[in-house]
Amino acid sequence: MLLARTFISGRLQCSNLAQDSSLRRIRRSVPDELWALLIVGLGGIAVFTVAEYKKVMSGKKQPPVLQYKVKMAKKKALDGDKGQSIILLKEALGLIHDYLEETREDPPGESELDDKDKIKIQKYLTHVLDQLANLSFELQKWKEAEHYFRLLLRNLLSSEETPKDDDGVIEVSLKLSIACAHQDKHDLAVLGFKWATDTIQKKVDETPDATDNSKALLGVCLEGWGTYLLSQDEAAQAAQLLSRALKISKEVLGEDHEQTTVILNNLAKAYAESGKFELAEELAREAVRIAEETQNTHLSRFMANLGTILNLEGNVLKAKEALRSALKLANEAKDEETKEMINNSLTEMDANASQ
Ligand SMILES: *[C@@H]1O[C@H](CO)[C@@H](O)[C@H](O)[C@H]1NC(C)=O
Ligand SMILES: *[C@@H]1O[C@H](CO)[C@@H](O)[C@H](O)[C@H]1NC(C)=O
Repeated sequence: MLLARTFISGRLQCSNLAQDSSLRRIRRSVPDELWALLIVGLGGIAVFTVAEYKKVMSGKKQPPVLQYKVKMAKKKALDGDKGQSIILLKEALGLIHDYLEETREDPPGESELDDKDKIKIQKYLTHVLDQLANLSFELQKWKEAEHYFRLLLRNLLSSEETPKDDDGVIEVSLKLSIACAHQDKHDLAVLGFKWATDTIQKKVDETPDATDNSKALLGVCLEGWGTYLLSQDEAAQAAQLLSRALKISKEVLGEDHEQTTVILNNLAKAYAESGKFELAEELAREAVRIAEETQNTHLSRFMANLGTILNLEGNVLKAKEALRSALKLANEAKDEETKEMINNSLTEMDANASQ
């Protein structure tokens, strides 16, 4: 299947799902509540029961040390040194652990930390977990990302003020699902995608003045779930979700927005894989047109996808033309992955032609 290789990655890493995960059927029979139960069931402030955090410093620790580490971690991340940033954040997490341990051991009234400090440390905890999860996610360390997103969720939900359908909770659930999907934990991934999408859909439906952020988040959830289904060869269902995502993206982000073009392209792929070539070609052309007008970095990939779709339609000449322009663009952009993919497609087409 040619198209399987022409998978396009999108913003938010939602669409970076590997295409080579084995084709497992998705279990549809898992009850919906399970995911919610899983999250809430973890509840409490049991973040540190895992007891894996070493004490990093001995003696009394002062908040400035923590503050300093978090600040340095941020700086390292901005400088692009994500590995070092993660090390600092883990140390910060160790410090927070120690603070919380100390306050737990102190008899009431003798705690060295007053309530203001506790709130501050709680804020640090959320921030550090969020940052650790984000960085692991960006580095595609899926197991770690899953771990930290779980801790973050627990932490978010342990606060009385955070409702279960808070945008932040939904976003973290979505990323957790993506991290699960990358580890072939398909049951969990499906539960998570479904829970996040249904929850935000309900919120948007029931809130007349739902914020653009909530609407955009619904689009991102639909896109994440649809793209996942596409990677699992569930093209027809993927097309349904992605066309809903497309509508929202056009509405909230605009017709020319990069995210809109990424969805257009993925939807084209979903249609092509479910045999709806005409629709597929139409959307692929739209993605290419907008990408050309906006000098979007995905252009070579969109063009390559258009070529592949034309080839599936039997229009070999036009297909080759598109693939050659795509190759030129990929060359200019030094996009080795796309170059190789196009090269393979062209080689395959020549082989077929000479048979
Ligand atoms: C983590 O990523 C999200 C966007 O996906 C962002 O809103 C959040 O601020 C990031 N967290 C940190 C601590 O940078
Ligand atoms: C395409 O593949 C052929 C061999 O299959 C190779 O000789 C050629 O250098 C490749 N071209 C590019 C642009 O990667």
